[in-house]
Amino acid sequence: MTAQLNARGDVAVLIPAAGSGVRLGPGAPKALRLLAGEPLLVHAVRRVAAAPSVRMIVVAAPVSEVDAVRALLEPVAPVVVVAGGAERQDSVAAMLAAVPAEVEIVLVHDAARSLTPPELVESVAAAVRAGHPAVIPVLPVVDTIKEVGPDETVLGTVDRSVLRSVQTPQGFRHDVLAAAHRAGLDAHTDDAGMVEKSGTPVTCVPGSELAMKITRPLDLVIAEALLRVA
Ligand code: CTP
Ligand code: MG
Repeated sequence: MTAQLNARGDVAVLIPAAGSGVRLGPGAPKALRLLAGEPLLVHAVRRVAAAPSVRMIVVAAPVSEVDAVRALLEPVAPVVVVAGGAERQDSVAAMLAAVPAEVEIVLVHDAARSLTPPELVESVAAAVRAGHPAVIPVLPVVDTIKEVGPDETVLGTVDRSVLRSVQTPQGFRHDVLAAAHRAGLDAHTDDAGMVEKSGTPVTCVPGSELAMKITRPLDLVIAEALLRVA
């Protein structure tokens, strides 16, 4: 395998980047939109490649952009680029197929979490290595959360202390993620959700404010500010 980072690494990181970025507004596919002059995907790949456990990175690009993304990432890091699918989970399945069986840990990330620090990649991978089959980085929920009825009447206040906001990268034993994908794709859950359904315990580790997802235009402004500390 030529697209290899650290030959002694035991981790493959899948970076889905094939979405269009509808919520960010009109423009190029989201992963190719610029943040401080560089595409979001370049920011994301550079940080993942800096994590010492990472042996390979696989990126899913929009079908029409596969060659362009390969050229874009060539100077950044050795990366395998595949064509993404209609839903995020289709893109993840396409990337998973490119990971050799001997790589024991697979992390599923988001190009849109472009400023995720290498330390978070390492801590998720370390928790899988320590024996947890599925690991997600989380943050406490800061807002008060209400359950509301169809007419917008409040039904109750949810106990925030038992809630967590979930980030990526989500980490899995390779066999556990592969089995969840074989069991069937569900576009409405995250990767850990698919594993949860199979009855496998999912463990939380502390997330990072820097792993925020760039979704709406305001997030680009916030990310630009965060770059000063990231
Ligand atoms: N993604 C993907 N393939 C898809 C859809 C999404 O690889 N078919 C990727 C996106 O490129 C992104 C990540 O999954 O890095 C998280 O998705 P999201 O933030 O929802 O990005 P988009 O789908 O591009 O944005 P939107 O939902 O606003 O269109
Ligand atoms: Mg989306």
